[in-house]
Amino acid sequence: MKLIIDTDPGIDDAMAIAYAAAAPEIDLIGLTAVFGNTHVHQSSRNARFLQHKLGLDIPVAEGAATAIGRECHAPSEHVHGPEGFGDVTDIPEIGSNHPMPAAEFLVDMARQHKGELVVCAVGPLTNIAAAMRLDSEFAQNIKRLVVMGGAVYCPGNVTPHAEANIYHDAQAADEVFAAPPPTILVGLDVTLKTLYETADFQALAEQSPHMGGFLRDISRFYLKFYKEVGGLEGCGLHDSTAVIACTHEPMFEMVETGLTVVTEGEEIGATRPDPSRPTVRVCRDVDGAGVVRLFTERVASLP
Ligand code: RIB
Ligand code: CA
Repeated sequence: MKLIIDTDPGIDDAMAIAYAAAAPEIDLIGLTAVFGNTHVHQSSRNARFLQHKLGLDIPVAEGAATAIGRECHAPSEHVHGPEGFGDVTDIPEIGSNHPMPAAEFLVDMARQHKGELVVCAVGPLTNIAAAMRLDSEFAQNIKRLVVMGGAVYCPGNVTPHAEANIYHDAQAADEVFAAPPPTILVGLDVTLKTLYETADFQALAEQSPHMGGFLRDISRFYLKFYKEVGGLEGCGLHDSTAVIACTHEPMFEMVETGLTVVTEGEEIGATRPDPSRPTVRVCRDVDGAGVVRLFTERVASLP
């Protein structure tokens, strides 16, 4: 399966990109960077660093620095650290970004691989909305869009109403769900059932000293946030769960519904079922232990 991950790395993004590199069913053909967990220039730098560390040689196209219609965006530094990789800083600039902006790259790849390309969006949906605005056939050209985002039947994580990726660009998300490609939404409804604990990271590092060790090192800051703020003994495999949903749908229980996103006011970023909208498949339950096991098995196989 040809896959592009649209990402804001980001600690769980890094885990998801490592998983995609290790998964035999996935042909990861590119990464597109977006603001969110960190500034977009750091998202693209981190994506280039990760693909190099994983021994890939794939393009990284840089995308949006802020949400549609909004000037500035405060990165989630309190969750992912000052440079997106926890307290691991001074990440080197490796290579350079693809000459195309992310939206143009997504449109071009969707045309080149018409009907075959899956796009997994694990950050704000700004680049996806931009691609849909740029090419009215983008939504038809891609095989599927899998989104890590939303909290449809459970509370949010940034506010009681909204999950971070949707919250960071509610307008873009609402535009995507107004005329969606074939879409699977992997929200907090399932990703908080895939907690990864300190012991899991340590075991991963022992099996995969290079990549697993790096993921353990960058996760310390993230685990501390989850414990101190969320009272949880582990962090959600949010983005990896979305990548796994690209190839392992039977692990998920899904319902079909249209979705509307609240785009203003106190409940901005809330994802609401809306029967008047085109249906998407919303994950309501997951084999959480199975996802954690699959993630570990595959990432542990990396050097
Ligand atoms: O709410 C979790 C999502 O927000 C994940 O994609 C995480 O990386 C952050 O972007
Ligand atoms: Ca992310």
